[in-house]
Amino acid sequence: MAGDRITVGVVGAGAMGSGIAQVAASAGHHVVLGDVNAAAVEKARASIAKSLDRDVEKGRVARDAADATLARITAAGALSDGYASYAGCGLVIEAVLEDLAVKRALFAALESVVSDACILATNTSSLSVAAIAGGCARAGRVVGIHFFNPATVMPLVEIVPAITTSPDTVAAARDLIQAWRKVPVVTTDTPGFIVNRIARPFYGESLRILEEGIADAATIDWAMREIGGFRMGPFELMDFIGHDVNFAVTSSVFEAFFFDPRYRPSLTQRRLVDAGLYGRKRGRGFYDYADGAAKPAPVEDAALGRAIVDRVLAMLVNEAVDAVYLRVASPADIETSMTKGVNYPKGLLAWGDEIGAAEVLRRLEALQADYGDDRYRPSVLLRRRARDGQSLLSPVTP
Ligand SMILES: NC(=O)c1ccc[n+]([C@@H]2O[C@H](COP(=O)([O-])OP(=O)(O)OC[C@H]3O[C@@H](n4cnc5c(N)ncnc54)[C@H](O)[C@@H]3O)[C@@H](O)[C@H]2O)c1
Repeated sequence: MAGDRITVGVVGAGAMGSGIAQVAASAGHHVVLGDVNAAAVEKARASIAKSLDRDVEKGRVARDAADATLARITAAGALSDGYASYAGCGLVIEAVLEDLAVKRALFAALESVVSDACILATNTSSLSVAAIAGGCARAGRVVGIHFFNPATVMPLVEIVPAITTSPDTVAAARDLIQAWRKVPVVTTDTPGFIVNRIARPFYGESLRILEEGIADAATIDWAMREIGGFRMGPFELMDFIGHDVNFAVTSSVFEAFFFDPRYRPSLTQRRLVDAGLYGRKRGRGFYDYADGAAKPAPVEDAALGRAIVDRVLAMLVNEAVDAVYLRVASPADIETSMTKGVNYPKGLLAWGDEIGAAEVLRRLEALQADYGDDRYRPSVLLRRRARDGQSLLSPVTP
């Protein structure tokens, strides 16, 4: 499929849909872009044009190539009249509202116009691909193709087969994403897929450390950046992502895992959402973004910083190891996901090997004994790797 230059349909012209349309058009595909709100398509085309202009200015793309990319994106016309303009597509990716009923209705409508060979992909972050595919007559052609924001910049794409997805669909989706010069990883249809599952403790454990009064946000951010080597601290990053979005992801993963305490959301973050203090976009979150507002100074205590990093890292490594154990993805794809999807300085399994599986286990057991909370239970695979002295990167055997 990748070489055939199929026409790609994108439904939903918001933040993600417009980025995905640009990526597909840049790879040479004709793109049909539609939205229930016609103004959103015009806005998306204007923002794609601006982004391409920037690429031209920076010498990344020639002027005529940028113009040709934009010319390959056509508006679908009023979706209230139906989806006929998607009839010739070989792939349609939806990036509409994160609502199961809306996505199911959309795929049912698309199925009535596209050919049998057309792949239907969802960019959902938190819904089950199986549930979205469940409303389709040909569920084998439905797959998750999960881009990260901004889609034009972030290299990682999670390919998510549902239990009903055919192997041909998965292979075609992976080949296509590779042809678009993105980095595909394959994951199971489980809550948060790879990145949004494994990254949870980066936020959740940092919030616990704050709530326990061990350190303030500025100190935890300083420790995670300067000692941990992360590009942004957890509170800076949550303020950047938006607490409305970050809290919704945590809550949905927590519920989808049947309220496993490992993913329990934080009341502190909940209160920020309640108060409308979503972070940068509202001018205030953990930090104040008003002009002239002073940024609080961290307590640059090396021992305290090390203890913070050690605790958060033990939780992150445990989450990555457990994902290996539960076959969420291969060890290699898990490493790729955290370095290319959220820019971690190292893969968590390799990082766990550096610390030593036995030491990560010791930290978690100490936390579990201290708190008496199942949140800190070590993965059975971490115990086995520590016992057998095996690398956390080794493949799991039945
Ligand atoms: N924003 C992110 O960081 C991010 C990252 C990865 C995946 N996602 C997922 O991508 C999807 C879209 O997210 P977004 O951030 O681009 O949202 P957005 O709100 O920016 O855009 C959604 C667009 O879909 C349109 N829409 C709603 N219902 C529609 C329908 N029935 N038919 C056609 N268009 C419809 C809206 O008018 C809007 O323009 C969601 O499923 C979300 O979970 C978001």
